[in-house]
This record gives sequence, structure tokens and C-alpha cells, in this order.
Amino acid sequence: MNAGVGHEAPDQYGVAGHPVAHSWSPFIHGMFAKATAQNLVYRLFDISPQQFRGEALRLFAAGVRGMNVTLPHKQAAAELVNELTPRAFRAQAVNTIAFFDDTSLLGDNTDGLGLTADLERNLGMTLADKRVLILGAGGAVRGVLGPLLERDLREVVIANRTPDRARKLAAEFEDIGNISACGFSEVRGPPYDLIINATSASLQGDMPVMPAGLVGEDSVCYDMAYGRGHTPFTLWAKSLHAARTCKGWGMLVEQAAESFLLWRGIRPDTKPVLQALAQHT
Ligand code: ATR
Repeated sequence: MNAGVGHEAPDQYGVAGHPVAHSWSPFIHGMFAKATAQNLVYRLFDISPQQFRGEALRLFAAGVRGMNVTLPHKQAAAELVNELTPRAFRAQAVNTIAFFDDTSLLGDNTDGLGLTADLERNLGMTLADKRVLILGAGGAVRGVLGPLLERDLREVVIANRTPDRARKLAAEFEDIGNISACGFSEVRGPPYDLIINATSASLQGDMPVMPAGLVGEDSVCYDMAYGRGHTPFTLWAKSLHAARTCKGWGMLVEQAAESFLLWRGIRPDTKPVLQALAQHT
């Protein structure tokens, strides 16, 4: 026994998704909690889309203090909460919910900060004046468009399998930057400075067929997906001699640090976690 040290039950957190078994968030938040001496546990909540609302409310009523939200619940989470932070409101997508003692649920979106922190701090990129191509128009893209456009990019093109979905998304953000949308086959060069894959195609082992001339020797190609080895997207970029290919591990860790900050008031150092995860990439 550790006399003198309190033995209060740990605060409960977790990530809701479907599927969610592959998530590294419990590992990441476990390392953050240890490093910052926070008494918390972080679990996986596998919840189907039909049950998301009821089950999430049940978990909060049972004492869960905060929840990360991943595929496919980010837009449903924006509808569940009582209040949205300005960036979550802009995105209409939530990846972090905080449950405050006054019984209100606050929805935030830390995906964009996670991506920009990884690109700028970890990869040393300057985003101002860059031309950026984003593949995909789902919940993940909603979260990152605001913070990316705040960097004074020269141009953002969203290309999606369903072009209308990309056009609708671009229209929601056209007041804050130079943004346009199209289908994959309509994307034109010259090569982009940054190409971000935010489709879930990689998860199915797929890569959309893209026109030639989009990747140059200075292009950075970033796959938001993560996992071991190459993805179909990073293989495509490598075959076209991109300057650099990256996967989304850094974004994952940085967005988690921002969620942790919202919940616990401390932003943990991400470096030790990135180093620990590097063994798995
Ligand atoms: P997320 O929250 O990860 O963005 P999502 O909202 O389900 O998840 O969006 C998935 C994205 O991947 C969409 O842009 C989807 O294209 P559609 O809008 O046409 O559905 C894209 N996507 C999924 N599977 C794909 C595939 N095999 N090829 C190309 N794009 C794909």
C-alpha cells in the first residue's frame, strides 16, 4: 500500500468508433497520462452508427469524462453535443467531446491542429503560399480545412470520388480561402506542393486512379491513414518520385495531445510518444 497517496478511481476516457479495435489512442493517452501523472483510464468504445447517440449518452451518464470520436461518428457527434467550439462549428464535425460537471457536452475538433502541428513542427514545412491537393471530402477533411486555410495557402483543391460532396464542402469554406473542388479525373497539374490523402481508400487497399502530372520532385505526399509499411497512396507517390511521403502517425499524436489539453489542462510532450510509435511504422 502506498500510505498517504489517494486511491481515487481513475477518470474515464475513451475513443468511440466503428471499427475501433485498431486504434492506437489508448496507447497514446496512456503514455500522456503517465508522463503528466494524471489518474485516468482510456478505453475503446466500439459503437455502431445506429447506436451512437444512445450509447454515447449512456457512457457519459455512467461517468465517462471525455471521448474521442472517430470514423464514422464525427458528424453525428457534432449533433450530439450541447455546444461546439468555433473550430468544430466551422467543421461541423467533432473528434473530441468533454463532459463538464454542469452536465453539458462540449464538442471540439483537434484534427486540424494535429495535422498542421505535424506538418509544421514535426516535418518542418511552411504552409503559406503552398498549393495543396486533398483527396477525399469526408469528416476527416472537414476538420482540417479551417486550420489549413488559415495558413494563407495559395490554393486548395478538393478531389473526391463523389465530386458533388467535394463541391458542397468547398462551398462551406470558400469565405476563408481559395478553394475549389472536382472529381479525381479532373485534377490538373502543375505538381502540388502538398498532396493529402484523406480518403478511406487505403483502408480497403485501394488508391484512386489519378491523372499524371500532380506529383513533382518537390511534392510532399501525406497519407492521413497510418499503419505499418507503405499504403497504396505512399506507394503511388514514391513511384512518381515525390520529395517525401508520410503517414498520419504525427497527426494522430498531435490531435490526441490537443484533446488531452482540453480534458486535463496540460498539453503533453508528444516527442516520446512519436519515438515509441516509430517502432511500429
Ligand atoms: P472520414 O471521416 O475518414 O473522412 P468518411 O466521411 O466516410 O470518413 O469519408 C471517407 C472518404 O473516403 C470520402 O471522401 C469517400 O469518398 P465518397 O465521398 O465518394 O464516398 C472516400 N473513399 C472511400 N472509399 C474510397 C475508395 N475506394 N476510393 C476513393 N475514395 C474513397
